[in-house]
Amino acid sequence: MLQSRMAAIKAGRYNRLYLEQYQNYGKTWEENLAGTKVINSMEPENFQQVASLSFQDYGKLAMRNKALSPFLGNGIFSQDGASWKHSRDLIKPLFTRAELSDIDSFEVHVNRFLNLIPRDGSTVDLHPLLLKLFLDSSTQFIFGESVNSLIDTPFDAQEFLDAFSQALQGAGRRAQAGKLRFVFLFDNKKWKSSCDKVHAFVDRHVARALAETKPTDDPETESPSSPRYILINEIAKQIRDPIDLRFQVINVFFPARDSTGIALSNAFFNLARNPGVWTELREQALALGDQPLTFELLKSLTFFKYVLFESLRLQGPSGRVARTAIQDTILPRGGGPDGTAPIFVQKGTIVALNTYAPNHWKDTWGEDVEEFRPKRWIGSKHTWDWTPFFGGPRICPAQQQVLTQAVYLLVRMVTAFEKIENRDPSVAYVELTKMLTESRNGAKVALHPPG
Ligand code: HEM
Repeated sequence: MLQSRMAAIKAGRYNRLYLEQYQNYGKTWEENLAGTKVINSMEPENFQQVASLSFQDYGKLAMRNKALSPFLGNGIFSQDGASWKHSRDLIKPLFTRAELSDIDSFEVHVNRFLNLIPRDGSTVDLHPLLLKLFLDSSTQFIFGESVNSLIDTPFDAQEFLDAFSQALQGAGRRAQAGKLRFVFLFDNKKWKSSCDKVHAFVDRHVARALAETKPTDDPETESPSSPRYILINEIAKQIRDPIDLRFQVINVFFPARDSTGIALSNAFFNLARNPGVWTELREQALALGDQPLTFELLKSLTFFKYVLFESLRLQGPSGRVARTAIQDTILPRGGGPDGTAPIFVQKGTIVALNTYAPNHWKDTWGEDVEEFRPKRWIGSKHTWDWTPFFGGPRICPAQQQVLTQAVYLLVRMVTAFEKIENRDPSVAYVELTKMLTESRNGAKVALHPPG
């Protein structure tokens, strides 16, 4: 099994391998991963059970957290139980309040992004540019200062980004080695130095945020501390310990770093192969005239949203979400001769929920399951069989922000360019599996301005 997984990662078809395994073994099956029992499932009812109905029976992978903890510390992404709830209650409302204010600051970064796209029909890979765009906007939102990678990355910002990647890589290798991680000779000194560099960068913003804000018990009654909404400043009103504040902020930056850039790169990958959808989007965008692109207007553009939904269905950045049972519990489906009876989940078992396979299941989506067809979303309701942002109490708090920014970017792109053309010799999506899954060949296109 491990060999076939390594081979599939190399061949860029890791998610496909899982899909084939679900087709062969059924929607729920068990494996022994170096002594740990893992229940793999793509069953929507089991998703709902783990994410929501039996939420209290599960925690984040203990092993992974141990491997990650010197880097990630305690915060919304890594914690469980009451401490997670405390972080969540603090951070989730900040996203909701930010949604209304951050389109203006996003626009600055989008303008820079648009200026970097060639107008002469030459080939451009949108993938690295999109990663930079969302890196710039998310660092602005989280730290109050953008790393400005689309214009010129200052030395200390580049050092921070490199150190962040190295720290993540080291943490990933430690997590993969699991119980054996002390046996392998990892370069601890280099890893520690990367973690220290990330912490030093964040600590500068921590010190500034603490100096700029005063403690408050009720942020709901406060107006944001600056006209631009800065997450670290808002958290600093309630967390005054610099180390606690540092780790909370890293816990938001960690899931934010590449996810939105990858999701949008996938959307352009699909649009380049379906230029008719681009034309339809463009017609709708031009019909808006010169109305300002407010939060409400963007929210009302359903077809733009469906383009993103459909792209997230075909290639969501996170293919699996795993949890460890922290007490004996049950899953509603997967047992018995036909796999429809409940199953016992012993404490310590890992439940690995696959988000890719349900999105590629013919019985759910129809014979054209592999086609990019945003219109399939008109009037359709998908809940636990479409979970790119997961679900339940731990659903991604940035979901609405991501959708708003994505729709804004799509509107700006189709307005600026009449046509999109694929320039990638590979029509198929080849995966590159890191912490997230992205397109190995990027999103190579040509964009043609009107006239
Ligand atoms: C297309 C973009 C994104 C996708 C597909 C996505 C997806 C997800 C998923 C699947 C989870 C659940 C992970 C798990 O529990 O193991 C998650 C959690 C989270 N995401 Fe996102 N995310 C995206 C963008 C962002 C951004 C931009 C931010 C921050 C600015 C963010 C912040 C978070 C946080 C803080 C959590 C942890 C929530 C908790 O455990 O309570 N995400 N996201």
